Amino acid sequence: MNKTARAHTNIALIKYWGKADSKNKLPLMSSLSMTLDQFFTDTRITVSEKNEFFLNGVLQAGKNYQRVFTYLKILQKKFGVSDNLRVESTNHVPTAAGLASSSSAFAAMAGAFCACYNIQLSKRDLSKIARLGSGSASRSIYGGFAIWQKGFDHDSSYAYALDETPVMDLHLLAIELNSNPKKLSSTDGMLQAQTSPFFIPWIKRNEQELSAMVAAIKAQDFSALGQLAELNANEMHAINLTANPGFSYFEPDTIHAIHLVQQLRASGIECYYTIDAGPNVKILAQLKNVKEIIKQFLSEFENVKIVNASFGPGLSYLDQ
Ligand code: DP6
Repeated sequence: MNKTARAHTNIALIKYWGKADSKNKLPLMSSLSMTLDQFFTDTRITVSEKNEFFLNGVLQAGKNYQRVFTYLKILQKKFGVSDNLRVESTNHVPTAAGLASSSSAFAAMAGAFCACYNIQLSKRDLSKIARLGSGSASRSIYGGFAIWQKGFDHDSSYAYALDETPVMDLHLLAIELNSNPKKLSSTDGMLQAQTSPFFIPWIKRNEQELSAMVAAIKAQDFSALGQLAELNANEMHAINLTANPGFSYFEPDTIHAIHLVQQLRASGIECYYTIDAGPNVKILAQLKNVKEIIKQFLSEFENVKIVNASFGPGLSYLDQ
């Protein structure tokens, strides 16, 4: 088959930030995300003479190569195969977006691996194996809104679709403020966060935050969704600050952007922010306010790049 698999990135509205088991990437909380239409990864895997990983046409070595082949070896062991593989990925996740590409990368990788060996898996099983590459990739198997239920072992920890084709009026503006490489990877950051005295309260709040978010989505209540997403992101960053040693992904521009969102809201333009393991800010907004928000950000920040995204689809295969 050797088809090219395409997966889109997702943004968590209820975040995954803490693991129960690092090896199997089992989380300590369930998470909920929105898959995005503007950002995706295409990956093709073929049996080859040697192991090679090309990213955007460039042969990779070092950390990037290691992470991909460590993952592929786990899958090969699971499915009882052992060939050398040529992996070709194209990332349509502009650094401008300030979005992590590991969710789309490992969802596409899982799909491409199955296509290479003609392995037929359900979406649930694809989600489990994508999770082994990067936790957030488990959710990128689905379009629209997806929930990754934490589970307690490999078989019970997978994502499912809450609504793959939502009609809700919801946009995500990815604002690139700072494109320096992040100081601490998500994997390392979430491990360090577990030393915060607020880590246990964070875990304890997960169930109630998740059900409130599901209710907001079902009611298409943008205000409730935005408030809950912003609070959840602030909680994640608060545990980073209060970890031992404390750390933060925020840069001065991050705080500046937070203030701008607060000002916009005070002036009647409803919008909310969410922030992942990096300095860039993502704004949740309704269509009627998108133009004005972009205008305000362009006038407030120099050289800022903004991408307006909405709901994207789940894992698919390209016709060749
Ligand atoms: C802040 O999925 O990148 O984006 O499982 O260690 O690969 P690993 O981490 P990763 O972490 C994502 C963290 C987050 C929140 C989220 O996407 O839920």
